[in-house]
Amino acid sequence: MNLPNAKEARKRTDNKVDVYYDKYQIPASIKNVGKGKKYLLLTYGCQMNVHDSENIAGIMEEMGYQRTETMEDSNIIIINTCAIRENAHNKVIGILGRIKKLKETKKDLITIVGGCMPQEEKIALMFEEKYKWIDIVLGTHNIYELPLLLEKTMQDRKQNIEVYSIEGDIIESLPAKRDSQYKAWVNIQYGCDKFCSYCIVPYTRGKQRSRLAKDILEEVRNLKEQGYQEVTLLGQNVNAYGKDLNDGYGMADLLRDTANTGIARIRFVTSHPWDFTDEMIDVIAQNKNIMPYIHLPIQSGSNNILKRMNRLYTVEEYKKLYYKLKDKIPGVSITTDIIVGFPNETEEDFEETIKVYEELKYDLAYTFIYSKREGTPASVMPDKVSQEEKEERLQRLNQVVNKYALESNLKYVDKVVPVLIEGPSDKNDKVMGYTETMKLVNIKASRENIGKIKNVRITEAKTWSLEGVLEDD
Ligand code: 5AD
Ligand code: SF4
Repeated sequence: MNLPNAKEARKRTDNKVDVYYDKYQIPASIKNVGKGKKYLLLTYGCQMNVHDSENIAGIMEEMGYQRTETMEDSNIIIINTCAIRENAHNKVIGILGRIKKLKETKKDLITIVGGCMPQEEKIALMFEEKYKWIDIVLGTHNIYELPLLLEKTMQDRKQNIEVYSIEGDIIESLPAKRDSQYKAWVNIQYGCDKFCSYCIVPYTRGKQRSRLAKDILEEVRNLKEQGYQEVTLLGQNVNAYGKDLNDGYGMADLLRDTANTGIARIRFVTSHPWDFTDEMIDVIAQNKNIMPYIHLPIQSGSNNILKRMNRLYTVEEYKKLYYKLKDKIPGVSITTDIIVGFPNETEEDFEETIKVYEELKYDLAYTFIYSKREGTPASVMPDKVSQEEKEERLQRLNQVVNKYALESNLKYVDKVVPVLIEGPSDKNDKVMGYTETMKLVNIKASRENIGKIKNVRITEAKTWSLEGVLEDD
């Protein structure tokens, strides 16, 4: 057993990051253990978790398990958890209640909890004390150990908790069962060293560490060969890619080299405004296959709040970068994240956020009410703002967000834009896909178009999506 440790999770050293190409192995004794059996995999949280789940699915299927979408059908249930806000936590606690009930009648069901929640010391202890029926608890650093832990559980039928509070290594060669055949997530960096005062990620995912460029580029080339049209380079702070490798090779170089692989579309998330260089902007502007779409979280429009959030930039600096991006990358769409109700956010602070939003007119924003995360600096800041007030602010902000979302979508009407068609739409007899600028489009077209990039004439704009028809080739 290995429990996480809050103090260790906070630690940062200059220790070298090891890259392992052979750490993941399936013991011969359980190679085919999953034959004829099914697993259910539930994923919460960010794209990083979504991609981790693709790795988990890859591992399960290498052991012969088949995926199912129903609890009753499954021999193994795996929950990949998120810790970023209280509501993500609550969803998992709710689902655990349902699984516990099922396990009472289905004794040989194996239950596994992984992801960010177990990385929290208190949560892992809670699983140990009050959730004895969870068979395996693992963290973000040891997905590769899943086969070993499964083997152990099958032998001893005891609860196995293996969570490490380490700065982290890089584990290459995990298999992946990807959700899409056309677009793929590609990790370029793990962890985070920014320590924004509200955020739990630096404690759950370890220090910022970059994957070697040769491994990233090889993955992109392989994906292209398999017919993938789009890659999204993933990290908490992708602009800082390479800084920890100290060899002078940075995000601008990686973007350029990824563009040179010739893959049709390249995206990257998430950018911290702090590390966005002019060279990066030039590379994005010069390469047609790097998409003109940037997610640039501002978090707040008040310098006072930004300072207490430890965001390292002022509103003025952020705006300067924003206008530079708009100026240098033709047609770029920019989205953002905003937290309302940070401890002691005043009405004036909040109004400054609205004012900045009204000025910048983002394409879209993901908005959140501040959620207290134990162990973070913000969690001990005094807070006199009521939850009611915070909810009211969120609503006011969302009205502004929606207004500009529709306004920016309306600019597309009657234009012809390339769309990567990904799959059937929720709407009857339509397909769906995204523009280069990350606008969701529902298209009247047959399913034969799925997997292709097609010119689409936009016929209608809504707040959250566009409607379109295929333009003749
Ligand atoms: N409360 C609310 N929102 C948060 N985020 C991160 N931590 C918190 C928190 N404690 C938001 C930020 C970040 C996004 C991924 O989640 O806006 O950019
Ligand atoms: Fe969290 Fe800030 Fe790191 Fe993003 S940059 S993961 S908000 S600490």
